Amino acid sequence: MKTMSRRSLLKFGVLGTVSGMFNTTESWGRVVAKPTPQEVEGPFYPVIDQEDKDADMTRVTGQNGLAKGQHIVISGFIKDDNGHPIENARIDIWQANAAGRYNHPKDPNPVPRDPYFQGWAIIRSDKNGQYRFKTVKPGAYPASKTWIRPPHIHFKVFKSGFSELVTQMYFPNEPLNESDLLFNNKNKSEQIAMIAQQAGADDGLMVFSYNIVLSRY
Ligand SMILES: [Fe+2]
Repeated sequence: MKTMSRRSLLKFGVLGTVSGMFNTTESWGRVVAKPTPQEVEGPFYPVIDQEDKDADMTRVTGQNGLAKGQHIVISGFIKDDNGHPIENARIDIWQANAAGRYNHPKDPNPVPRDPYFQGWAIIRSDKNGQYRFKTVKPGAYPASKTWIRPPHIHFKVFKSGFSELVTQMYFPNEPLNESDLLFNNKNKSEQIAMIAQQAGADDGLMVFSYNIVLSRY
């Protein structure tokens, strides 16, 4: 038994070294990441088209002002489940403004809209699979009399050859995450995958990192 276990250790040790050297995930094509969990689209996907859907949601073309609230940067990589970057994925993003109101005619939240907040963006990942946009931290909003949705950003990601992903990104250290009905429907590892990580600053703005894994058809 002792010999066997020593052999096993040796075997695993050697394999471990090789994996470390070659980054197995890239060279052997093993599945290394679970696809990002799906989440409901929700009722506030934009229904009125707008000219400006660029990567800076803190201003609207033609308007002379900046969106209210805390300006932040969200950035990350779109990858497949082998860890390979996916370039030119289409990333459709929408969210509430800093007060918790969507630019949607059926949003019942009585807090004001922000004419300087773009609210919706469609961007693409670059050749390294990376995307980046500037926005405001969304406010929490009531989904019912007893349920407050925590700050979150909706994503729809498309790339041919992959399943369309509809999901929601959450923020770290938000007490409302704990009591959110949607978030609590996810298991621990799914929750971890759906929470962005704080990742320093860019041009004085707080950066949140959020990586997305798409699954092939
Ligand atoms: Fe929402």
